[in-house]
Amino acid sequence: MVWQAIDRNEAVIDPEAPAVLSAAVRKKIESFLPRYETRLAALLPALHVVQDELGYLSHQAMKEIAEILELHPSQVLDTLSFYTHFWTHPKGRKVITVCRSICCETLGGNKLLEAIKAKLGIDEHETTPDGEYSLVTEECLALCDYGPCMLINEKVHKCVKPEDVGRILDDPNNDVVDMPRSDLFDGPHEAGK
Ligand code: FES
Repeated sequence: MVWQAIDRNEAVIDPEAPAVLSAAVRKKIESFLPRYETRLAALLPALHVVQDELGYLSHQAMKEIAEILELHPSQVLDTLSFYTHFWTHPKGRKVITVCRSICCETLGGNKLLEAIKAKLGIDEHETTPDGEYSLVTEECLALCDYGPCMLINEKVHKCVKPEDVGRILDDPNNDVVDMPRSDLFDGPHEAGK
Protein backbone atom coordinates (compact mmCIF):
# COMPACT_ATOMS: atom_id res chain seq x y z
CA MET A 1 0.00 0.00 0.00
CA VAL A 2 1.28 3.45 -0.87
CA TRP A 3 0.51 6.25 1.54
CA GLN A 4 -0.50 9.56 0.09
CA ALA A 5 0.04 12.78 2.01
CA ILE A 6 -2.77 15.32 1.77
CA ASP A 7 -2.07 18.97 2.50
CA ARG A 8 -5.10 19.99 4.55
CA ASN A 9 -4.08 23.62 4.29
CA GLU A 10 -4.57 23.58 0.55
CA ALA A 11 -7.86 25.17 -0.52
CA VAL A 12 -10.23 22.75 -2.26
CA ILE A 13 -12.18 25.55 -3.90
CA ASP A 14 -11.15 28.47 -6.05
CA PRO A 15 -11.28 31.64 -3.90
CA GLU A 16 -12.35 33.54 -7.03
CA ALA A 17 -15.19 31.13 -7.87
CA PRO A 18 -18.59 32.77 -8.43
CA ALA A 19 -21.24 32.44 -5.73
CA VAL A 20 -23.65 29.52 -6.13
CA LEU A 21 -26.37 30.54 -3.67
CA SER A 22 -29.09 32.65 -5.24
CA ALA A 23 -30.41 35.80 -3.59
CA ALA A 24 -33.68 33.97 -2.87
CA VAL A 25 -31.89 31.14 -1.07
CA ARG A 26 -29.80 33.58 0.96
CA LYS A 27 -32.95 35.47 1.92
CA LYS A 28 -34.69 32.26 2.96
CA ILE A 29 -31.75 31.22 5.17
CA GLU A 30 -31.66 34.68 6.73
CA SER A 31 -35.39 34.38 7.43
CA PHE A 32 -34.72 31.41 9.72
CA LEU A 33 -32.41 33.33 12.03
CA PRO A 34 -34.97 35.12 14.26
CA ARG A 35 -36.38 31.73 15.27
CA TYR A 36 -33.20 30.48 16.91
CA GLU A 37 -30.96 31.61 19.74
CA THR A 38 -27.82 30.95 17.70
CA ARG A 39 -26.98 31.18 14.02
CA LEU A 40 -25.61 27.64 14.23
CA ALA A 41 -29.11 26.38 14.95
CA ALA A 42 -30.23 27.49 11.48
CA LEU A 43 -27.67 25.23 9.83
CA LEU A 44 -29.88 22.19 9.26
CA PRO A 45 -32.73 24.09 7.62
CA ALA A 46 -30.15 25.95 5.54
CA LEU A 47 -28.70 22.66 4.32
CA HIS A 48 -32.14 21.44 3.26
CA VAL A 49 -32.90 24.65 1.40
CA VAL A 50 -29.59 24.68 -0.45
CA GLN A 51 -29.77 21.01 -1.42
CA ASP A 52 -33.32 21.51 -2.67
CA GLU A 53 -32.10 24.42 -4.79
CA LEU A 54 -28.81 23.04 -6.13
CA GLY A 55 -29.32 19.27 -5.89
CA TYR A 56 -26.26 18.80 -3.69
CA LEU A 57 -23.91 20.69 -1.37
CA SER A 58 -20.64 21.57 -3.05
CA HIS A 59 -17.65 22.90 -1.14
CA GLN A 60 -18.48 26.32 -2.56
CA ALA A 61 -22.04 26.08 -1.22
CA MET A 62 -20.72 24.98 2.20
CA LYS A 63 -18.43 27.99 2.29
CA GLU A 64 -21.28 30.38 1.45
CA ILE A 65 -23.57 28.81 4.07
CA ALA A 66 -20.76 29.20 6.61
CA GLU A 67 -20.40 32.88 5.71
CA ILE A 68 -24.12 33.55 6.13
CA LEU A 69 -24.27 31.75 9.48
CA GLU A 70 -20.90 33.07 10.66
CA LEU A 71 -19.50 29.57 11.10
CA HIS A 72 -16.31 27.88 10.01
CA PRO A 73 -16.81 25.84 6.81
CA SER A 74 -15.66 22.74 8.69
CA GLN A 75 -18.70 23.07 10.98
CA VAL A 76 -20.94 22.91 7.93
CA LEU A 77 -19.10 19.85 6.61
CA ASP A 78 -19.13 18.17 10.04
CA THR A 79 -22.89 18.53 10.28
CA LEU A 80 -23.90 17.57 6.77
CA SER A 81 -21.56 14.56 6.63
CA PHE A 82 -23.40 13.06 9.62
CA TYR A 83 -26.59 12.72 7.54
CA THR A 84 -26.84 10.44 4.53
CA HIS A 85 -29.65 12.69 3.30
CA PHE A 86 -27.15 15.31 2.23
CA TRP A 87 -25.09 14.85 -0.94
CA THR A 88 -21.70 16.39 -1.60
CA HIS A 89 -21.62 15.47 -5.27
CA PRO A 90 -24.20 15.67 -8.06
CA LYS A 91 -27.01 13.14 -7.90
CA GLY A 92 -29.93 12.17 -10.06
CA ARG A 93 -32.96 14.43 -10.21
CA LYS A 94 -34.78 11.76 -8.22
CA VAL A 95 -33.18 9.66 -5.47
CA ILE A 96 -34.70 6.26 -4.76
CA THR A 97 -34.08 5.16 -1.17
CA VAL A 98 -34.96 1.53 -0.47
CA CYS A 99 -35.24 0.33 3.14
CA ARG A 100 -32.72 -2.39 3.93
CA SER A 101 -33.74 -3.13 7.53
CA ILE A 102 -35.14 -6.34 8.93
CA CYS A 103 -38.92 -5.85 8.60
CA CYS A 104 -38.75 -4.80 4.99
CA GLU A 105 -36.16 -7.43 4.20
CA THR A 106 -38.42 -10.13 5.66
CA LEU A 107 -41.23 -8.89 3.44
CA GLY A 108 -39.17 -8.95 0.26
CA GLY A 109 -37.05 -5.82 0.35
CA ASN A 110 -34.14 -7.51 -1.40
CA LYS A 111 -36.35 -8.56 -4.31
CA LEU A 112 -37.64 -5.01 -4.56
CA LEU A 113 -34.11 -3.63 -4.67
CA GLU A 114 -33.09 -6.13 -7.35
CA ALA A 115 -36.16 -5.23 -9.43
CA ILE A 116 -35.23 -1.53 -9.30
CA LYS A 117 -31.64 -2.26 -10.25
CA ALA A 118 -32.82 -4.36 -13.20
CA LYS A 119 -35.31 -1.73 -14.34
CA LEU A 120 -32.81 1.16 -14.18
CA GLY A 121 -29.65 -0.75 -15.09
CA ILE A 122 -27.73 0.71 -12.15
CA ASP A 123 -26.36 -0.53 -8.83
CA GLU A 124 -26.47 1.11 -5.42
CA HIS A 125 -24.82 4.55 -5.27
CA GLU A 126 -25.06 4.89 -9.02
CA THR A 127 -26.99 7.30 -11.23
CA THR A 128 -28.70 6.53 -14.52
CA PRO A 129 -26.88 7.95 -17.58
CA ASP A 130 -29.72 10.42 -18.20
CA GLY A 131 -29.30 11.82 -14.66
CA GLU A 132 -32.88 10.99 -13.75
CA TYR A 133 -32.44 8.46 -10.92
CA SER A 134 -29.87 7.68 -8.23
CA LEU A 135 -30.29 4.57 -6.07
CA VAL A 136 -29.35 4.13 -2.41
CA THR A 137 -30.44 1.97 0.53
CA GLU A 138 -31.02 3.14 4.08
CA GLU A 139 -31.76 1.63 7.44
CA CYS A 140 -35.35 1.68 8.72
CA LEU A 141 -37.49 4.40 7.13
CA ALA A 142 -39.94 4.17 10.08
CA LEU A 143 -42.61 2.57 7.92
CA CYS A 144 -42.15 -0.99 9.14
CA ASP A 145 -45.90 -1.74 8.93
CA TYR A 146 -45.76 -1.06 5.21
CA GLY A 147 -42.75 -3.02 4.03
CA PRO A 148 -41.14 -3.28 1.67
CA CYS A 149 -41.06 0.46 1.37
CA MET A 150 -39.03 3.10 -0.39
CA LEU A 151 -38.81 6.80 -0.98
CA ILE A 152 -38.54 8.63 -4.27
CA ASN A 153 -37.09 11.92 -3.15
CA GLU A 154 -39.41 12.68 -0.23
CA LYS A 155 -42.43 10.69 -1.44
CA VAL A 156 -43.17 7.47 0.44
CA HIS A 157 -44.11 4.31 -1.48
CA LYS A 158 -45.52 1.58 0.76
CA CYS A 159 -45.86 -2.20 0.33
CA VAL A 160 -44.05 -2.14 -3.01
CA LYS A 161 -43.85 -5.44 -4.84
CA PRO A 162 -41.25 -6.10 -7.55
CA GLU A 163 -44.04 -6.12 -10.12
CA ASP A 164 -45.03 -2.56 -9.07
CA VAL A 165 -41.61 -1.13 -9.91
CA GLY A 166 -42.21 -0.50 -13.61
CA ARG A 167 -45.48 1.34 -13.00
CA ILE A 168 -44.04 3.46 -10.21
CA LEU A 169 -40.87 4.44 -12.07
CA ASP A 170 -42.81 5.26 -15.23
CA ASP A 171 -45.05 7.68 -13.31
CA PRO A 172 -43.66 11.22 -13.79
CA ASN A 173 -45.31 12.29 -10.52
CA ASN A 174 -43.79 9.52 -8.42
CA ASP A 175 -41.91 12.07 -6.27
CA VAL A 176 -44.64 14.66 -5.82
CA VAL A 177 -45.44 15.52 -2.18
CA ASP A 178 -47.91 17.97 -0.68
CA MET A 179 -45.22 19.86 1.22
CA PRO A 180 -41.45 19.59 0.66
CA ARG A 181 -39.39 18.99 3.80
CA SER A 182 -37.68 22.36 3.45
CA ASP A 183 -41.09 24.07 3.74
CA LEU A 184 -41.61 22.40 7.10
CA PHE A 185 -39.18 24.95 8.48
CA ASP A 186 -41.47 27.80 7.49
CA GLY A 187 -43.84 29.23 10.05
CA PRO A 188 -47.55 28.38 9.70
CA HIS A 189 -48.27 31.79 8.19
CA GLU A 190 -45.71 31.15 5.45
CA ALA A 191 -46.43 27.45 4.92
CA GLY A 192 -50.06 28.27 4.15
CA LYS A 193 -49.19 30.68 1.35
S1 FES B 1 -37.71 -1.96 8.44
FE1 FES B 1 -38.25 -0.96 6.61
S2 FES B 1 -39.28 0.79 7.33
FE2 FES B 1 -38.64 -0.16 9.14
